Amino acid sequence: MRLLVTGGAGFIGSHFVKRMLAAGEDVVVLDKFTYAGNPANLPDGIECRRGDIATRGDVDQIGPVDAIVNFAAETHVDRSILGPEDFVHTDVLGTLVLLQAAEELSARFVQVSTDEVYGDVEPGWSSREDDPLRPSSPYSASKAGGDLQVLAAVRTFGINASITRGSNTYGPNQYPEKLLPLFVTNALDGEPLPLYGDGRQVRDWLHVDDHCAAVELVLRQGEAGQVYNIGADEEHENVELTKMIVEHLGADRSLVRSVEDRAGHDRRYSLETAKVRALGWQPRRDWGEGVRATIDWYRDNRDWWEPIKRSGGFREYYDKQYAARLG
Ligand code: NAD
Ligand code: TYD
Repeated sequence: MRLLVTGGAGFIGSHFVKRMLAAGEDVVVLDKFTYAGNPANLPDGIECRRGDIATRGDVDQIGPVDAIVNFAAETHVDRSILGPEDFVHTDVLGTLVLLQAAEELSARFVQVSTDEVYGDVEPGWSSREDDPLRPSSPYSASKAGGDLQVLAAVRTFGINASITRGSNTYGPNQYPEKLLPLFVTNALDGEPLPLYGDGRQVRDWLHVDDHCAAVELVLRQGEAGQVYNIGADEEHENVELTKMIVEHLGADRSLVRSVEDRAGHDRRYSLETAKVRALGWQPRRDWGEGVRATIDWYRDNRDWWEPIKRSGGFREYYDKQYAARLG
């Protein structure tokens, strides 16, 4: 299969690219190389084009493909609060443009989405695929807009498209703005770990290998017009993950700082995943083992993240997001 992976230079996309190459597929990557796109994530020799998924000419340079898996997105909630325009451009318009290309090419299409489109859920409830979308942040609202474009394109134009909604994903090569890589690399640098609010927010954690395995399964076996939640049923409070990081690294507990909460902060995500499990998927990575292996990866791969954290772009974002919070 000739497969277009958009956003293949990002965190999850790059793991998916390696997985599909190992499966013998003919992979081409399209990536805009935003701050989150990193050539160091890509395997040597991969066919890769620079371009914007929201620009039809950039997509058309790829030529015919059998399938498109769309990982390309603006992905960070905090950045979406600081400035949502890029999120609408890529996550909504970009998805629409890719769908138009998929229609012309008669390509299979998988939209990689997120559990955040459901908004937060009360204790005792897990979101199902047909639950209403109640996004809380400009990020999740943009992802929900993309999902709705996909479902409309299936119905109106007969596109062979499915949607995956994965939960919070962790693993190597994640840009150090998200909770786990930010806290691990800050702890390694002796910098504070800024925990928002009371730190009791719950996320449903998923290892990147398990996330990619599920996306592959949906690509190959998912039905058109169907949505598949992907979650490992590992719900943990941010304080618990923070404690694991501090303890595993033997860092000083006083590095943890309680700071001003995120605006509109979702309290809890939780997914009902029977549908993807019925396709034959189940998570393979144990939470404790997976988190510790991920912490070890950042400890052992400073050459991957130090250039990012020392860059002007990162420092500028970090100051905007944390300077006032950390005082
Ligand atoms: P990431 O931020 O690490 O990477 C995003 C990639 O998309 C980067 O390589 C970037 O350069 C590229 N990109 C951004 N805008 C583009 C554009 N207009 N055209 C082409 N490329 C563009 O993201 P990630 O964490 O790997 O997430 C990948 C996908 O998975 C996203 O769609 C995200 O919504 C979804 N998702 C992520 C998580 C998570 O916890 N990280 C969980 C569930 C779903
Ligand atoms: P994040 O990794 O940004 O993912 P998402 O917002 O998409 O779930 O955040 C995970 C959780 O960690 C979320 O509840 C917000 C919290 N958090 C902090 O407490 N401090 C931080 O500096 C960051 C980035 C996140």
